[in-house]
Amino acid sequence: MVFSKELICHWFARVKLSRIVMLVTLALVIVPLFTHYYISNVERDRDRPVSDVHRTRTKLEAYEDYSALKASDLKMRIQEMLRIKGSVSTELRDLEAKRQRLQSEVVSFSHKIDQLKSELMRQQAELNRLKLSVEQARVAQREALQQNTPEVAPPLGLVANELPSRLEGVGGAASSSCTMATCFDHSRCSLTSGFPVYLYDTSLFPATQFLRTAVTQTVGYNPHFTSDPAKACVYLVLVGEGEKRRNLSDLSALPYWGGDGRNHILLHLSRNDLTIESSLVPSADTSRAIIAQTSHPQFRPGFDIVLSVAMGPPGGDVWAEAASMLPARRRYLVSFQGVPPSKEGNLFNLTELQSYLSPTSDEILMDTGCEKSSELVVSGWEWGLCGTDSSRAAILRQSTFALIPAVAGSPAVGARLYEALKAAAIPLIIGDTPLPYNEVVRWRSASVSVMWARIPELHFLVRSIPDIDLLSLRRQGRLLWESYCSSLQAVVDTTLALLRDRLQLPPPPAPETPAISIFTDGFVPLKTEPVVADAEPEESLGPLEPPYPSPSYRRNFSLILTQGFEVWNTWADPFWLYPQLPFDPFLPSDAKFSGSGMGFRPIGGGAGGAGKEFCDSLGGNNPREQFTIVMLTYEREQVLMNSLSRLHGLPYLNKVVVVWNSPRPPLQDLRWPDIGVPVHVVKANRNSLNNRFLPYETIETEAVLSVDDDAHLRHDEIIFGFRVWREQRDRVVGFPGRFHALDLNHGGWLYNSNYSCELSMVLTGAAFIHKYYMYLYTHWLPQAIRDKVDEYMNCEDIAMNFLVSHITRKPPVKVTSRWTFRCPGCPVSLSEDDTHFQERHKCINFFTQVFGYTPLLNTQFRADSILFKTRIPHDKQKCFKFI
Ligand SMILES: *[C@@H]1O[C@H](CO)[C@@H](O)[C@H](O)[C@H]1NC(C)=O
Ligand SMILES: *[C@@H]1O[C@H](CO)[C@@H](O)[C@H](O)[C@H]1NC(C)=O
Ligand SMILES: *[C@@H]1O[C@H](CO)[C@@H](O)[C@H](O)[C@H]1NC(C)=O
Ligand SMILES: *[C@@H]1O[C@H](CO)[C@@H](O)[C@H](O)[C@H]1NC(C)=O
Repeated sequence: MVFSKELICHWFARVKLSRIVMLVTLALVIVPLFTHYYISNVERDRDRPVSDVHRTRTKLEAYEDYSALKASDLKMRIQEMLRIKGSVSTELRDLEAKRQRLQSEVVSFSHKIDQLKSELMRQQAELNRLKLSVEQARVAQREALQQNTPEVAPPLGLVANELPSRLEGVGGAASSSCTMATCFDHSRCSLTSGFPVYLYDTSLFPATQFLRTAVTQTVGYNPHFTSDPAKACVYLVLVGEGEKRRNLSDLSALPYWGGDGRNHILLHLSRNDLTIESSLVPSADTSRAIIAQTSHPQFRPGFDIVLSVAMGPPGGDVWAEAASMLPARRRYLVSFQGVPPSKEGNLFNLTELQSYLSPTSDEILMDTGCEKSSELVVSGWEWGLCGTDSSRAAILRQSTFALIPAVAGSPAVGARLYEALKAAAIPLIIGDTPLPYNEVVRWRSASVSVMWARIPELHFLVRSIPDIDLLSLRRQGRLLWESYCSSLQAVVDTTLALLRDRLQLPPPPAPETPAISIFTDGFVPLKTEPVVADAEPEESLGPLEPPYPSPSYRRNFSLILTQGFEVWNTWADPFWLYPQLPFDPFLPSDAKFSGSGMGFRPIGGGAGGAGKEFCDSLGGNNPREQFTIVMLTYEREQVLMNSLSRLHGLPYLNKVVVVWNSPRPPLQDLRWPDIGVPVHVVKANRNSLNNRFLPYETIETEAVLSVDDDAHLRHDEIIFGFRVWREQRDRVVGFPGRFHALDLNHGGWLYNSNYSCELSMVLTGAAFIHKYYMYLYTHWLPQAIRDKVDEYMNCEDIAMNFLVSHITRKPPVKVTSRWTFRCPGCPVSLSEDDTHFQERHKCINFFTQVFGYTPLLNTQFRADSILFKTRIPHDKQKCFKFI
């Protein structure tokens, strides 16, 4: 080896050198000594008086020897000697300099050796990593080969292609016993048909112009809408509204009625005005059609659909209208505004109810005094309403419970329910009646329902409900109201979703945002080697693998079976199918060793292990996966390039999506670091912070690491965060913690970024989130919130924390001790100045108003790796060296 040879030469050089130095030193010492001795003798002798000459023989002799020399000669000799001395000492200096030079070379060589050693170690680590990657690739290949059940792709969509025809031998007779099995033609709705819905001309039957236009529009927006009647699975007929009498014998003249109205839905919408008399009942005219209306005197369970009243606007943002959920207990415990029915046959006695409710300090509002006012709406044996919509809303907003007397099939219950939920009053339903969409929506978790016989116990019952349940009922009521009742669009969409669900067809895939590259076609950006900026710790954090997208749409047909309840009631989002959900269940831990091990990378092959084995495999409860980094950038190209280049060699990284918010495209000669994974630069339509959470189609993993372009995270921190997120997939998992604190002087919330022992937000400037939340942020969150984010150019991270905490009722997870995360040298970002903070205070208060409560929850939990600060034997390795 070169350096060892050099070393030896060098050693020789050193030996020789020291010898020379010794000799020269000797010479140097001896020559002047001698010279000095000699000269001093001569001079002494010269000074001595002549009388003393005899005193020493030898001296005399010496004197006589030298006396021959002339003084000038002597002087010359001395000078000669001095010259020699001078030249020797010059030489000595030279040698000394040389020695120092060599010495420093030695130092530099040994430094180089150290460098080479560490390089060797790095290479060794790299080699190990490559070996590991090769090993992982082998496993993946083996898996691919062994996979005897290949990924199922759906067959080509099977769609009906002819109009319904009159069936022979099947009468169009009234079917009061219709079920989906006997009255529905399933052959028009194959599993892969996508549930096409055809809407008849809305002017065929009497209805207001408003309703006609609104229904045409809302059905047009529904993703199932088709204009081709031959392909349709179901046919929608708007048969009218409320009390308007209609002649249903016209139904049989509908062009696709097919003799018996198979697969037809008769949409009978109502606002406030439906009476039991005007309700549709199954008859020879309606034949096999499904009746969808607010109330059903003759409800056929599993076949007819109970609608919510269409009291809301046609569509749009309804959140901001809704009332605050707090405080839990309002002024009136129970309120009711209405008059008892005029007809006989009702078990309900209001005077009796009042007598059971009154004798306490609880305020109860029973307003039956509107009997004589012109505002009163009484119809048949139905309960009358008192007051105007707004006066009733004002009372309801002050009521903890809203009393809703219901007799079976009573039409006004829907309107009362709508009003109560909108005002965040908990419906207190007395009696029994089918509630809207009761086939899938569980109203029990949003209302209190009692039978007539329980009226004496009613007060006790509602009084005993603690605040947490009041708020839980209220929150759930609000969720159901928003999703299924709030607007005409919600009513139409829910009706169709319910029937689709009944047929066990999957919803359409959630819309993704197209990711248009900033680079025009054919332009290949210049590449550059990534600068390894700061020495990364020399630990192997995982294998480097080729990009591996997370498997998507695996549960098209099983989600509604296994988690149908959650779909409708917990997440309240049956309208779209998502590629994956953060709530997908885990397999039991032994399943992966008995047949279901596809994609799993158990630690140590299942045997577990400390740091080394841990870093070799992803482990966990989910199959292997990768994450995508989404980075928003605006006119800071160098900062961005530095950030990108630091991502070189990051394990489990699938792709980097850079959202280019600036209207100016990147410079043509900008050099992009080649970091080993695709970097997709997406052109943003406009400069908005909401772009950070667009569900771009190019994001192919469930895990998304959202980072600011100037965020500075080490690889081990990112990998650790990723591993923690894999176990907390429904939460925000990240680094910078913040909290909301009460403003003790002025009331309301303050945003606080000080160090603290409790936090309630993790900023998405450096956090993992599930891609699902990007769909929700973009399509489900109220527009008012995204508008506020645009208005302030701020707060998108707070909005995301609100959203996730609202959905999950869980706080975010903070990982590692890191509190700040921006790079030290970067220009101070705008987040430092005071207006930024002022805006964030305002955002929290505004979002609270829109949500009706503050969904944020406090946590003192922080995730550090398991063996962090644990003493372990020397032959064992920690999970991570530094965190
Ligand atoms: C599941 O649904 C998605 C979205 O509609 C579709 O792309 C995919 O092919 C479907 N897969 C199966 C197996 O049905
Ligand atoms: C309904 O219309 C049909 C024909 O369109 C007519 O024969 C029938 O008398 C009408 N019935 C009522 C109650 O108006
Ligand atoms: C309602 O109950 C009260 C008290 O029990 C009774 O006096 C009254 O007659 C009842 N009213 C009706 C209409 O039954
Ligand atoms: C943060 O702490 C500092 C010093 O303790 C204090 O002056 C400041 O008001 C705090 N900021 C907030 C927002 O509470």
